[in-house]
Amino acid sequence: MNTIFPKLKNDFQNDEVITTNIYKLIDKYSVNNHLSKDEFLFILDNITEKETRYLYKKAYDLKYEFYQNRVYLRALIEISNYCKMGCKYCGINNTVESIERYRLSVDEIIEYCALGYSLGYRTFVIQGGEDSYYTDDVLSLLLHRLKSEMPDTRITLSLGERSKKSYQILKDAGADRYLLRHETASKKLYNYLHPSYMSFENRRECLHNLKEIGYQVGAGFMVGTPSQTNKDLVDDLFFLKELNPHMVGIGPYLCHEDTELKGNMSGTLTESLIMVAMTRLLLPKVLLPATTALGSLHKIGREKALKVGANVMMPNISPTENRELYEIYQNKICTTDTSELCRNCVEARIVGVGHVIDLGVGDHIDLERVTNNARK
Ligand code: 5AD
Ligand code: FES
Repeated sequence: MNTIFPKLKNDFQNDEVITTNIYKLIDKYSVNNHLSKDEFLFILDNITEKETRYLYKKAYDLKYEFYQNRVYLRALIEISNYCKMGCKYCGINNTVESIERYRLSVDEIIEYCALGYSLGYRTFVIQGGEDSYYTDDVLSLLLHRLKSEMPDTRITLSLGERSKKSYQILKDAGADRYLLRHETASKKLYNYLHPSYMSFENRRECLHNLKEIGYQVGAGFMVGTPSQTNKDLVDDLFFLKELNPHMVGIGPYLCHEDTELKGNMSGTLTESLIMVAMTRLLLPKVLLPATTALGSLHKIGREKALKVGANVMMPNISPTENRELYEIYQNKICTTDTSELCRNCVEARIVGVGHVIDLGVGDHIDLERVTNNARK
């Protein structure tokens, strides 16, 4: 049983004093973009539906200040479900025997990105399990070809932990951004969710290396994993404040029945939305996706995230025949759709909640200014 957000359940209503204190803390947080650990804990331990509405409004307003109602689109291509790692929550980890494995060749990746380009996308997220097939040489070839055929794009890699040297080579070959969720900033929880050969320290080291090399970096975490407490989530907020990444991916943990963590509860929509909103107030200019996991948990989970501070969506451009095999969690959306369908669907959803799509490369607002000034 999850211990986070105890008062969200059963229509619990706080008395006036607690509600007023939460509102005051949210006001302070909106101004300072940080709170003490105790103050964060007070919010998370005591928040009920009533106070979430106040939090959501503050987070939406702050997003609007910097990004208005624009939503950046990133086309996601899932290149391989081979993975040498054993994250216990993940449905494509190396112990799962029930799935058929696939990987895309450089030619196939380019073909599907080109289709994405013709649909208007200008950012591609190349994501996959940690598959040794994709050596630095293979990926450098891919990056050179992508950047020469589609120069007005940004390439994001999301291929797990690699050496600093490898990250540097890939950056030199044309990669612009790297997504590597920290998963949790609590060492104890990290060790519970991962096998002993995976290292909490190495993951953090990777994120620092990526930043040092000059990538736009994305971190992130799951909400509602088994054993997670509010204190762990406060650690996530503190870690993010210190790392100051350009992007933060947040989604509910969704239990996969073929993994070691089978039989556990999944994270909930409200818990996830609270953490999206809390992250917007923490890092006002951050790029914050309305994640596929949120859309998989609830049919308008992504739209709800846009209303509480998210400003990015990541439609799928993987070959339809492989999509079901990239099953990091069950009941994932878009697995039977084509790229054209996802493109139209995503736009309709964004417009449906009063937002507009932005098909630019969608850099972090601080970098956008640097590039624009350099052009003048
Ligand atoms: N539920 C939700 N998110 C998951 N991820 C992996 N497995 C699951 C799951 N069962 C997330 C991890 C990973 C990202 C690609 O997907 O946070 O970093
Ligand atoms: Fe893929 Fe809706 S985003 S079908």
